[in-house]
Amino acid sequence: MNWREVWGRKYKERASAGIKTELGSEYWDKVAEDYSQWNKSNDYEYGRKAIEAMKEIINLDFEALDIGAGPGTLAIPFAKAVLKMTAIEPSPVMRKYLLRNAREEGIQNIEVMNRSWQEVDDFDIRKRFDIVACSHLLWQFADVDKQLERMEHASRGYCYVVHPAGGTDPMVKALWTEVMGKNYAGEVDPDLDDLVFVMLRQREILVNVKVIDYTTKLPVEQEVRLIARLLSKHAEVTPALMELIGKSVLGKSRNGVYETRSNAVVMWWEMLPSE
Ligand SMILES: C[S@@+](CC[C@H](N)C(=O)[O-])C[C@H]1O[C@@H](n2cnc3c(N)ncnc32)[C@H](O)[C@@H]1O
Repeated sequence: MNWREVWGRKYKERASAGIKTELGSEYWDKVAEDYSQWNKSNDYEYGRKAIEAMKEIINLDFEALDIGAGPGTLAIPFAKAVLKMTAIEPSPVMRKYLLRNAREEGIQNIEVMNRSWQEVDDFDIRKRFDIVACSHLLWQFADVDKQLERMEHASRGYCYVVHPAGGTDPMVKALWTEVMGKNYAGEVDPDLDDLVFVMLRQREILVNVKVIDYTTKLPVEQEVRLIARLLSKHAEVTPALMELIGKSVLGKSRNGVYETRSNAVVMWWEMLPSE
């Protein structure tokens, strides 16, 4: 099985099923505030646990790169564990929240590059970082194998990928089934981490894997927006759909707060001396 081809096929299948894959900065600008709030609602639990999972290799002398840093999900806890943090983030509003969140956390060792990963010149960053990371980003890339190799070229130590994995909230699955009128078959699952693993293994790279869990507690209104955005990648979000989502979330909330438990996979691999 050629796993690069499988990735390409799955990517095309998503696009032809109407699922939006490459979302531009306009989209990320709009969701930045909620995204930032999501991180603060659990004191960066996702990022903290992802960094904790790596504690055997992360060193306070490290220079680290986080690609597609968003509001600092990973970059904020990461910056506290290394000497210097560079974050690549093309969305201006995400950058605004990233810098604000860094200030609030007293972080002073972070530099932000205002561009997309594809716009970064490989020559400028060749072996510049001890660790090159990305979280919840790779699913957007049609040519993921090329982007993984570019990450490796920028690293003199390790590459590190974090990705939500395993299971979608049953309520979201039920909503998807109702909206799409067909049985749910994993369409909104935060998948593709599995393909990253096998693609790397096919290149004979030994990948370390850990699983982390995290809890999100969001006000009803915000959770409704989050689910609406997720479903908007598949269907038009009409007022009727918003009402349906609202009723479902409210029905499962306590004191105006909706709680979800989720998992993510943390993967890292070491650069060989010749790389
Ligand atoms: C799903 S969010 C993930 C944010 C954060 N890493 C996290 O784990 O929560 C994707 C982020 O990647 C950024 N992004 C999208 N395309 C990108 C690209 N081509 N290069 C770098 N960042 C990109 C978006 O602006 C957004 O902030």
